[in-house]
Amino acid sequence: MSIPDRFIDELTAKCDIVDIISRYVALKKSGGNFFGLCPFHSEKTPSFSVSPDKQIYHCFGCSKGGGVINFIMNIENLDFPESVRFLAKILNMEVPEDGKTGGDSSKKERLYAASTEAARYFHAKLFSDEGKEALSYLERRALSKRTIRNFGLGYAPDAWDGLIKELMEKGFTKNELLDAGLVVKNSKGSIYDRFRNRAMFPIIDLRGNVIGFGGRVLDQSLPKYLNSPDTPIFNKSRNLFAINIAKNVKSRTILLAEGYMDVIALHQAGFTNAVASLGTSLTEDQARLISRYADEAVISYDADEAGRKAAARAINILKKTGLNVKILRIPGAKDPDEFIKSNGADAFLNLLSRSENHIEYRLCDLRAKYNLGLDEDRVSYLKAAAKLLSTVESPVEREIYASRVAEEAKITLSGMLNEIKKEYSLFEKKKKREEKREILSPASAIQPKTREFRYGNVHSAAAEEGIISLCFYDPTLIPDILSRISSAEFSSRLLGKVLDIAAERYKDERPVTLPSVSDSLSEAEISHISKVISKPVKGSDIKKAMSDYISIIKLQSLKGENLDEESLLLAQSKYREIKGFGGNKV
Ligand code: UTP
Ligand code: MN
Repeated sequence: MSIPDRFIDELTAKCDIVDIISRYVALKKSGGNFFGLCPFHSEKTPSFSVSPDKQIYHCFGCSKGGGVINFIMNIENLDFPESVRFLAKILNMEVPEDGKTGGDSSKKERLYAASTEAARYFHAKLFSDEGKEALSYLERRALSKRTIRNFGLGYAPDAWDGLIKELMEKGFTKNELLDAGLVVKNSKGSIYDRFRNRAMFPIIDLRGNVIGFGGRVLDQSLPKYLNSPDTPIFNKSRNLFAINIAKNVKSRTILLAEGYMDVIALHQAGFTNAVASLGTSLTEDQARLISRYADEAVISYDADEAGRKAAARAINILKKTGLNVKILRIPGAKDPDEFIKSNGADAFLNLLSRSENHIEYRLCDLRAKYNLGLDEDRVSYLKAAAKLLSTVESPVEREIYASRVAEEAKITLSGMLNEIKKEYSLFEKKKKREEKREILSPASAIQPKTREFRYGNVHSAAAEEGIISLCFYDPTLIPDILSRISSAEFSSRLLGKVLDIAAERYKDERPVTLPSVSDSLSEAEISHISKVISKPVKGSDIKKAMSDYISIIKLQSLKGENLDEESLLLAQSKYREIKGFGGNKV
């Protein structure tokens, strides 16, 4: 770590989390906290809270949370030191480096610089003699000069060391070129250009850095596209092609295509909200990225079987982030690029207006599986369709689809609605069973689902959470707490670790805040801790609550898993009292 801890303390003390988050989210004050629409998932009513006192944010919808540095890491897609630098810039603070240069982030800066230089080199080559064939290839594919410049397209010459020479002249080392994924090492240890005789598509991140490339052959040879490998600055599963442009659209809709060429053709036709994944199928991280900039995603994948399969998969991944998902069918063409080339932008706009929501799309897929002329197929189709429609929340919508299906399969609407109701009550029953399980053991409701920090003893953990909450609420309690209990008696590894960090910081007379401890925790852990400390500390006698927590933890730690009923009740009622767990379920 090249940024001194003291500086991070100073920065987090100076930084007001409400100020910073207000740059991204419209916040309204309510009581002591601020609320707004969560920038990390799509929602209509605000469940994203920011506490100026605790300097943390927490979303009760998606459970994301943390301090100000963590917020910047998430929203700007930066790592820890990058986020510190980002905030320092806003606050006009100079970041001291601790002597050792060549730290992680300055190394990354070098890789960004090398990639940018490479993009410049490829772009210049496209307009040189060597690039003639590539340029005419791109023009044959109907790309205008303006589009070529906008996307910074280029040409990697047919040579083994064109880029190497260029970049070494500019002062980059062989190792830097290797780390940036621009060159490949052969078995004898010498290096050569990764991209040769290819049209080059630079991949640019949210902040405008060139992070990698896709390179296409100019003929039929294979592989058709060659992509940069994952590097310290390029993570295929967390970036999207053209997100740097698409993130600026006001429409809150993002078009998701399969290929680089589709995206470029779409942008050229005016659909500047198009993005594509980078040579792999859509990942959850990419879906979340989309959901930060859009409320709706329209999948416009290739028309072939592979494209349809990929779409079915993408629907689920996108829906999980809360996005409204639609699917486009591309008639008479292989992909959006080809469709626009032969039918024009208006025709595509027309397709877009007729894109189906995922229910229509799935119904249609389902229908194709059955022969509706056969009685038994019709019954199977009806059952499958009813199951699908039982997941539609709006009764009006449900009825519209139901009547369509009823018509196709030739049954009465009421018969169809009955079938849906049956499926729905099965679904409800299952849900109720799950809820009941939670009510029977409220402690399980506070037990995080992630294995990573599964609590050893949920009864003790409620009290351990109480202790952690108190440490952050009033760090002057820490010596008293430590004189009576140690992290070794905690059942939760995570909560124990946080107690240790807090204690260490208190001893060093450093602030005990979530932002200041978050460097030592994983993202999931930070989110969890922010939830633990975001609940108001209630009750007038904090010392008494502290003592109670400590006795519960001690008792549990002595008894191991053998818990008597009295202390369980005590643990639960204490938890309720302090956490305000009463009515509102979180
Ligand atoms: P497609 O084969 O559909 O390519 O692959 P395309 O975009 O339509 O390409 P053109 O129109 O023939 O130029 C879709 C995407 O899959 C990845 C690329 O990201 C491509 O844009 N891909 C495909 C690869 O990474 N490698 C390959 O060899 C092929
Ligand atoms: Mn194509």
